[in-house]
Amino acid sequence: MQIHPDIPELRDALRKLRAGSGLAMPRSVGFVPTMGALHMGHRSLVQAARRHCDIVIASIFVNPTQFAPNEDFSRYPRTLEQDCQMLEAEGVDLVFTPTADAMYPPGASTFVDVEGVSDRLDGASRPGHFRGVATVVAKLFHIAQPDFAFFGQKDAAQVAVLRKMVRDLDFLVEIIVCPTVREPDGLAMSSRNRYLSAEERRQALALSRALQAAQTQAARGEHRAAALQETMRATLQKEPALRVDYVAVVDPDTLLPVDDVRAGALLAVAAYVGSTRLIDNVLLAATTGNTGVPGKKKS
Ligand code: PAF
Repeated sequence: MQIHPDIPELRDALRKLRAGSGLAMPRSVGFVPTMGALHMGHRSLVQAARRHCDIVIASIFVNPTQFAPNEDFSRYPRTLEQDCQMLEAEGVDLVFTPTADAMYPPGASTFVDVEGVSDRLDGASRPGHFRGVATVVAKLFHIAQPDFAFFGQKDAAQVAVLRKMVRDLDFLVEIIVCPTVREPDGLAMSSRNRYLSAEERRQALALSRALQAAQTQAARGEHRAAALQETMRATLQKEPALRVDYVAVVDPDTLLPVDDVRAGALLAVAAYVGSTRLIDNVLLAATTGNTGVPGKKKS
């Protein structure tokens, strides 16, 4: 596995890998952008990329522009050596590990703003966050020129922002979203879980429990978003130490609220456990639609 901190070297290595052994078929490139502190969720993204693509690149870069000054940029876990071991074990070909100066040379003043969707859910609580995410991912896409890029469903708002960026700016990359990977007790895997004390780790289970309760209610026929939202909120409030950031039932593409979930919806929650902000979500599939009988909708 090659590790490249420099953009020109990475590009050169990629060009050679793509040319491969001179086969007529172009070799596909799968890309997994990360901020490191890798866990099983990242591993599943790399495995999907490995199954899907001829060449797999991962990046490890704790991107300063997606953190607000009061957030956890400086204490974000940096575990480069273990991360590279995991990536090598999963058969990654190239790892890009740029410095902040390489990604943002002095004087850089160009940003990607995906208007509208960037101000919803996490974007509402973390102003400027998705501008930083979209900018760095746009740069990484330009550098790695992937055919496919792999992201986790856990970051549902990030997925909505990046999908829109790819559409709006005609990036030649297909975004593939992989399911959230959970601990056996339901907690969604996150690099930030390592901030949690044992007691906070227990409290954090309220997030997946809240989603599960609403999902069960929806499966039993509740289609009013307000009722599902109430169930999530009530479940979260059973952990008084949790500070709820948002409880939302939205369209997964626009992140705008929906009133009725029968056409499909994203149930999403964010809460502070101690000082750690955690997010989680589930996608509800559409329950209305084609019955197979022309002109007849499922009731
Ligand atoms: O999801 C992440 O880890 C980051 O937001 C990303 C996509 C690597 C951009 O810094």
